[in-house]
Amino acid sequence: MEGMRRGVINMAENKEGILIIDFGSQYVQLIARRIREQRVHSIVEPPTISIKKIKEINPSGIIFSGGPSSVYDKGAPSFDKRVFDLGVPVLGICYGMQFIGKSMKGNIIKSGKREYGRTIIRFKRRNKLFKGINPKSVVLMSHRDKVGRLPKGFSSIALSENTKCAAFHNPKQDIYGVQFHPEVVHTEEGKKILRNFLFDICGCKKTWTMKSFIDKKIKAVQERVGDKDVILGLSGGVDSTVSAVLLHKALGERLHCIFVDNGLLRKGEVERVEKLFKKNIKLDLITIDARKRFLKALKDVTDPEKKRKIIGEIFIRVFEEASKKIKNVKFLAQGTLYPDVIESHTFFGGPSKVIKSHHNVGGLPKKMGLKLVEPLRDLFKDEVREVGKELALADELTGRQPFPGPGLAVRIVGAITEKRLNILQEADWIIIDIAKKRKVYSKTWQIFGVFLPIRSVGVMGDARTYENAIAIRAVTSVDGMTADWAKIPYDVLGEMSNRIINQIEGVNRVVFDISSKPPSTIEWE
Ligand code: XMP
Repeated sequence: MEGMRRGVINMAENKEGILIIDFGSQYVQLIARRIREQRVHSIVEPPTISIKKIKEINPSGIIFSGGPSSVYDKGAPSFDKRVFDLGVPVLGICYGMQFIGKSMKGNIIKSGKREYGRTIIRFKRRNKLFKGINPKSVVLMSHRDKVGRLPKGFSSIALSENTKCAAFHNPKQDIYGVQFHPEVVHTEEGKKILRNFLFDICGCKKTWTMKSFIDKKIKAVQERVGDKDVILGLSGGVDSTVSAVLLHKALGERLHCIFVDNGLLRKGEVERVEKLFKKNIKLDLITIDARKRFLKALKDVTDPEKKRKIIGEIFIRVFEEASKKIKNVKFLAQGTLYPDVIESHTFFGGPSKVIKSHHNVGGLPKKMGLKLVEPLRDLFKDEVREVGKELALADELTGRQPFPGPGLAVRIVGAITEKRLNILQEADWIIIDIAKKRKVYSKTWQIFGVFLPIRSVGVMGDARTYENAIAIRAVTSVDGMTADWAKIPYDVLGEMSNRIINQIEGVNRVVFDISSKPPSTIEWE
């Protein structure tokens, strides 16, 4: 299973689980997570997956996701109709429902207008899918077309003001369709509906636990790696930390971690990482002090993309040099997560336009002739945190906020100097310290400082100052793709501002960033 790029994850060993066919819905990952929250395994595959592969996967149920298309669009996603003869229950959501309706020869009414928003719906409670739910409740609708004439063998099991068929069922083949989104919180009974599908209709059991995941993963890694050695680039972030601890359990001394100190890290980070891994976990950790090399290459560079490229390239070189010194290495470990796997095969695919070049070790394995080990590639971020807890990592580690690969370089607007780095490290330390004490840290996706190279006039004691500014950036987000600026209480902001200006020489002004993403981005560069 390890390292099967774009391959199909085999669920047969779990004997239960739900296969989600991705018709391009913005909610596809949410469906998968909602199912996993019920302790049932779920995987997402594109509509190009073959019936043969589905049989190998052996799912307990199949969900067709929603999608932006109309079934009448040219090139609208479709699926092999033999899927309905597998004897596996099927649930279609929005586009998924219309696709079922059309392929079973019902009539789908084309509508140019999109219905989007909350609607009250009446459920027919006699149906298994709606067992135990409030018969009249709010759902989130988002669709263009709707079912007109039902296909043969189907009956309507819910109605709304807009349609007599807001959900349908074919009892003979156990096929269901819903016109609304059960996976979003706005659908009041959504959780129960999904639970009914999983447990009453598909007969799933609650076997997806992080403990069972860890046990299976350790065995799988041992089998894949054999007697060879593995290297891993540690960043101190949640993903690489959890990967390292998990692989250490599987491989012991045959795991070698390389931690590159690029001089762009948070205050005290090197000592923290060394203490945890060397002293506590006792794994083989090699710290490379490459501060001078990075800072020299970044001297006078102000263009954000250039900064990112330089850092990425030097990182790869430093990492490669260090790993060549370790013998018997045949594998490189990476902290790839399931959302990356899903995105790499989305149906409507194609890499989106590069806004910022992300720094990662993607180019390394090919260059160094290494195979990949990706112990977390089946997991969502919240599951990685759970694995961390299961592996007895402190909350302080598993609850860490994301930190970008290029580090503080993208939080210093303009040229990077040692003085600016020191100022930002101190400011960031104060912001995080107060955020934690005032219980703001765990409520934000990220909260940090940004160094602004502009200078402004201030007064300290009786003297005039002419110094730089620090911006406080705080956002809430689910996945970093979109974000809202976080409404931090004024007194917390005030405390941060006071401490930064009073304690850090070179700063006489603090501002608060009130922009959301889009149109801004989270990091300033
Ligand atoms: P932006 O600034 O694009 O950031 O809104 C979105 C999220 O990604 C993080 N980020 C990075 N993470 N390497 C990373 O591993 C990078 O080069 C990088 N750049 C941004 C950022 O902190 C935020 O969580």
